Amino acid sequence: MPVELPSRDDLQLVRRTLEALPDVAEAEVFLIADGPGAAPAALVSGGHPQPEALPRTAHLGGAETGVVPRCLAVMDRAAMLAIAHTLHATGLFRGGRVHGWEEVAEALGAAPRHRWIVRRWLASDETLRPPSRRELATAMRDLDVARHELGYPAAMGRFFQAALRSLARLVRDEITLQSLLFSGGGMTTALGNYRDNLISRHLNKAAADAVAEAARTRGRVLEIGAGVGATTDAVLAAVDDVDYLFTDVSTFFLDAARERFRHRPGMRYALLDVNAKMTPDEPPFDVVLAANVLHNARHAGRTLAAIRELLAPGGTLVLIESCVEHHLVSASMHFLMSPQADALLPGFADIRQGQDRVFLSRTEWIRQLAALGFRDVRAEPAPGDPLAAAGQHVFTAVRGDHHPDPAPLLSKAAEALPPHLVPREIHTVDALITDRSHRP
Ligand SMILES: C[S@@+](CC[C@H](N)C(=O)[O-])C[C@H]1O[C@@H](n2cnc3c(N)ncnc32)[C@H](O)[C@@H]1O
Repeated sequence: MPVELPSRDDLQLVRRTLEALPDVAEAEVFLIADGPGAAPAALVSGGHPQPEALPRTAHLGGAETGVVPRCLAVMDRAAMLAIAHTLHATGLFRGGRVHGWEEVAEALGAAPRHRWIVRRWLASDETLRPPSRRELATAMRDLDVARHELGYPAAMGRFFQAALRSLARLVRDEITLQSLLFSGGGMTTALGNYRDNLISRHLNKAAADAVAEAARTRGRVLEIGAGVGATTDAVLAAVDDVDYLFTDVSTFFLDAARERFRHRPGMRYALLDVNAKMTPDEPPFDVVLAANVLHNARHAGRTLAAIRELLAPGGTLVLIESCVEHHLVSASMHFLMSPQADALLPGFADIRQGQDRVFLSRTEWIRQLAALGFRDVRAEPAPGDPLAAAGQHVFTAVRGDHHPDPAPLLSKAAEALPPHLVPREIHTVDALITDRSHRP
């Protein structure tokens, strides 16, 4: 008798059954083996993703943040025009001809490691129109006025102007962004970017409040990628007595922090790389803080899973992350994300792989956290807040005790499905990257 393989409808039934189980967010169902031995198997992501994480407060800033959307739009426009100017200076686009990104990268003399940035620039329709010299000059002046309104120090204005005027040299690797960011060897510009401006002030304050709340009863804090200590400053102002492990991948920042926080009791320092085994010889932490660093993780889900293991049950994770790739970022900070040597892409192995992007979206972070069993996931600013225009968010989440476990899912599936459709194997994963068009 010919063997009946499970049909597409059968597999759809299995998927729906699994997705209806508590603790399952999404399921992918497929057949393993063929012929008489064929049976369904499934990958499931755990936890019910929250479509909308609640903010902790309705508005992060006061009335002063009302200027944020307009000022950022002005700064972003200057970056967009500078990118367009750089692309059009190749002479390739005269007469409206269309060129492939390889040709443009070649004409720019782009270093292989920065070619992904050229692709990003070309992906935007806005960069296709060449700006006039006057338009560009006006936009650069407007950028500096907007920068001032947002409270960025003058050094930050010089940094943005230098980066935007040097895009061709940056992309050719004739100069590095680090040399502009740390020009003169000081940290003023970097602190301007991560601390001394209206946006960072409110985000760092929100993160610090969340750390202080979680550390009130529990006092062990781990900061990852603490760098110039911009968020650290806000946290230390908000907490009294904590044991604070300040970590970074670079000794340069640890040495500077040792000096900067030398009068503060309770500070300790260590190297920690989010892409290596994160097993400091330490008891679990009550709070883990990671500000503007986790986009450096090769696989955000795996790094979050490792961070979860560093937290005590009930401990709080506080993240600050950029979630929108503005032109201003593509014309500046993205150069820090290019791979070393002659690799072609930042080495992401997660949902960003092959996509010429660095940041996860707000929804992607929320889903990652929920899929890993974090609870009480919150994200600020709220969508209607003027600060949301910055595209940066503070996420907080509490480590639950629960880990997705496939064994109970199998027995629940067996109760709900006919025997020949019960998956032979169920594997839980952090999150599924689903092309819904091919789903059964
Ligand atoms: C954008 S800075 C943010 C600095 C700081 N958190 C702040 O907001 O002021 C990113 C920091 O992450 C660190 N970093 C980069 N890759 C890292 C990695 N793989 N593991 C840990 N830290 C990393 C950098 O050295 C740098 O200090």
